[in-house]
Amino acid sequence: MSLAWLGFVPVLLCASWQTENNADKFPLRMDSVIGVLEDMESHLEGTPDLPVIELFREIGCKSEFCQLSPLPATPASLNLPYLSEKQRSFLRHLQNHKSNGSWVEYGAVLTPDGTTVALSPLLGGIAGGLKRRQEGAVPAPPWLKDPVNNTQAELCPKMDSLLAPLATDLAVAFSLYHAGQASVLLGPNGCWDNISAPHTFTLLSPPSPLSDAVINGAMDGVILGTYLAKNASSPSSISNLLNEYYAGEGLAGDNRTRSNFRRRNFADLVSEGKLREQLESSLCLLRHLHSSHPLLNGTGHKDVASLVVQAVEEFTAQYVECPAIIPRCMWEAQPYRGTPTQLQLPLSFVYIHHTHRPRKPCRTFPECAADMRSMQHFHQVVRGWDDIGYSFVVGGDGYIYQGRGWQWVGAHTLGHNSKGYGVSFIGDYMEVLPDGFALELVKDNFLQCAARGSRLKANYTVYGHRQVVPTLCPGDRLFQEIKTWTGFKERCFMKQGIRHCV
Ligand SMILES: *[C@@H]1O[C@H](CO)[C@@H](O)[C@H](O)[C@H]1NC(C)=O
Ligand SMILES: *[C@@H]1O[C@H](CO)[C@@H](O)[C@H](O)[C@H]1NC(C)=O
Ligand SMILES: *[C@@H]1O[C@H](CO)[C@@H](O)[C@H](O)[C@H]1NC(C)=O
Ligand SMILES: *[C@@H]1O[C@H](CO)[C@@H](O)[C@H](O)[C@H]1NC(C)=O
Ligand SMILES: *[C@@H]1O[C@H](CO)[C@@H](O)[C@H](O)[C@H]1NC(C)=O
Ligand SMILES: *[C@@H]1O[C@H](CO)[C@@H](O)[C@H](O)[C@H]1NC(C)=O
Repeated sequence: MSLAWLGFVPVLLCASWQTENNADKFPLRMDSVIGVLEDMESHLEGTPDLPVIELFREIGCKSEFCQLSPLPATPASLNLPYLSEKQRSFLRHLQNHKSNGSWVEYGAVLTPDGTTVALSPLLGGIAGGLKRRQEGAVPAPPWLKDPVNNTQAELCPKMDSLLAPLATDLAVAFSLYHAGQASVLLGPNGCWDNISAPHTFTLLSPPSPLSDAVINGAMDGVILGTYLAKNASSPSSISNLLNEYYAGEGLAGDNRTRSNFRRRNFADLVSEGKLREQLESSLCLLRHLHSSHPLLNGTGHKDVASLVVQAVEEFTAQYVECPAIIPRCMWEAQPYRGTPTQLQLPLSFVYIHHTHRPRKPCRTFPECAADMRSMQHFHQVVRGWDDIGYSFVVGGDGYIYQGRGWQWVGAHTLGHNSKGYGVSFIGDYMEVLPDGFALELVKDNFLQCAARGSRLKANYTVYGHRQVVPTLCPGDRLFQEIKTWTGFKERCFMKQGIRHCV
C-alpha cells in the first residue's frame, strides 16, 4: 500500500497556473474566496443557496482520502463561464487539499484572524447546513445525500450531515494510524510564504491526514452550517455570512461568534458524546461501503469502541481543550539570536506576567502580531536579549501567541527562567482585569493542556512575577485574580531570620 494519499507523490499541477507569476494570481486569503463567491452570487441572483453549492462542487476534494468522505470526491468541471480566467484559475488551485512531497498544503486559505482554513470541509459544512434547512423542500443534489443506500449500511446509525465530514476524516485518520499506515495522527500547523500576499502554505512537520487547516475548516463548517440550519432567512447571502464570521463583528453581530473563538464555539455545539456517536457510525459506514478500498486494508479488525474513545479523547485534548497558538512565523518574528537552550521538561512552574506596555490589549490579528514584533524588537535591540523574553503571550483577540515556545529557555523571570514558562497578558493590569475569555484561555486551556502534554508536571505551581522578583508585574488586579487559580501557591522564604510569604 503506497502512501500516495498522504501526498508523498507529487501532485500533477495544471500547467496553466504553475507557470503563472504570483503577481497575476489572487492571494490565498479568505477575502479572495469571498470575492469570487460575491461574483457568483450576483450572477446567480434569485437562487441564494446555489452559488456556494456550485463553489463547493467546483472545489470538491481530490485526494484519495476524501473519496471516503461524504464530500464530493471529484470536483465538477462547471467552468462557471461568468467568472474570469483569473478567478477560475484560483478555484482550480484550491481544488487540491492535500500536501505535496515538500509538505506544501493545498486548498487552504489564510483568514483575517491569522489562522488557516481548508475550504473543502468548510464548504462541506455550509452545504450540510443548507441541506438541513431545505430538507423536504427542494430535493438535495445526489452527492449531498447521505452516502447510505445499501441495505448493509442501513444498519449503521444515521449520520448528522453537519458532522459527517469531520467524523469521517477522524475515523479514517485513526483507522490508518492504528493500522500502522500513517505515522502522524493529527496536525500540524504551517507557515505562509508571505502574510500579506500568501501563495504557499508549508507545514511545520510531516503531514497527517488531518492537518490543522482541515480541522479548522471542519470546525468552521459545523459552526456556520448549524447557524444556517437554525436561521432560515439570515444573513442575506453566504458571502455576507463569511464576512461576518471571518472579518466582521461575528454572526448576527455577536463578537463571540467570530472565527477567533472557533474552538470554544465548536465545543458548545458538539459534545464529546455526540462526536463519539458520529465517529461510530462513520466507522460502521466506512467498513460497509468501502471495506475493499485499499486505503482501509488492515484497518478492519480493530476494536471499534476503543478506537472511538481514543480518537475523541485525543482530538478533544489537542483541538478543543488546548488553546490555538499562533506560531512565530505568523507574527513574522525575527530569528532567535545565537543558540537557544533547551528546557528540561516537564517544568514545575508557570510565571504570570503582564506586558505593561502595550497598555491596552490588541483586538485583531494584525494588531497582536504588530505588538509581538515590537516587544521582540524591544527585547532584542534595546535590552540586548536573544529573543522576545516570554514563552507565550496572551492576545486580546482570543489567541495565544508563541514567544520562545515549549522547548526553549526564556528571559522572563530573573533567576527562574529554566524552571518555568513565562506567560504574559498583553496590557496593563494594575487596575483592570484582562477580558474573561483571555483569563479562561490560560486558566482553563493553557495550563491543563501543558500538564496533559507533559510540558508541565501535574502538580505545577502558578506564581505571579512579583512573588519571585521585586516588581509590580503582573499588576494588582491580575495578581488578585491568579490567586484563585488551581496551582497558585504562596511563596515563602527566609529573610534575615524571618519567614516571609508573598
Ligand atoms: C511542492 O510544491 C512546492 C510549491 O509549489 C514546489 O516548490 C515543490 O517543488 C513541490 N514539491 C514536489 C515534490 O512536488
Ligand atoms: C444508491 O442508489 C442508486 C440508485 O438507487 C445507485 O445508482 C447507487 O449506485 C447506489 N449507491 C450506493 C453507494 O449503493
Ligand atoms: C509580501 O508581498 C507583498 C505584496 O506582493 C510585498 O510588497 C512584500 O514585500 C512581501 N513581503 C515579503 C516579506 O516578502
Ligand atoms: C464584544 O463586545 C462587547 C461590547 O462592545 C465588549 O465588551 C466585549 O469585550 C467584546 N468581546 C470580545 C470577545 O471582543
Ligand atoms: C492488504 O494488505 C496485505 C498485507 O498487509 C496484502 O497481502 C493484501 O493483498 C492487501 N489487500 C488489498 C486488497 O490490498
Ligand atoms: C510534584 O510531583 C513530583 C513527582 O512527580 C514530586 O517529586 C514533587 O515533590 C511534587 N512537588 C510538589 C511541589 O508537590
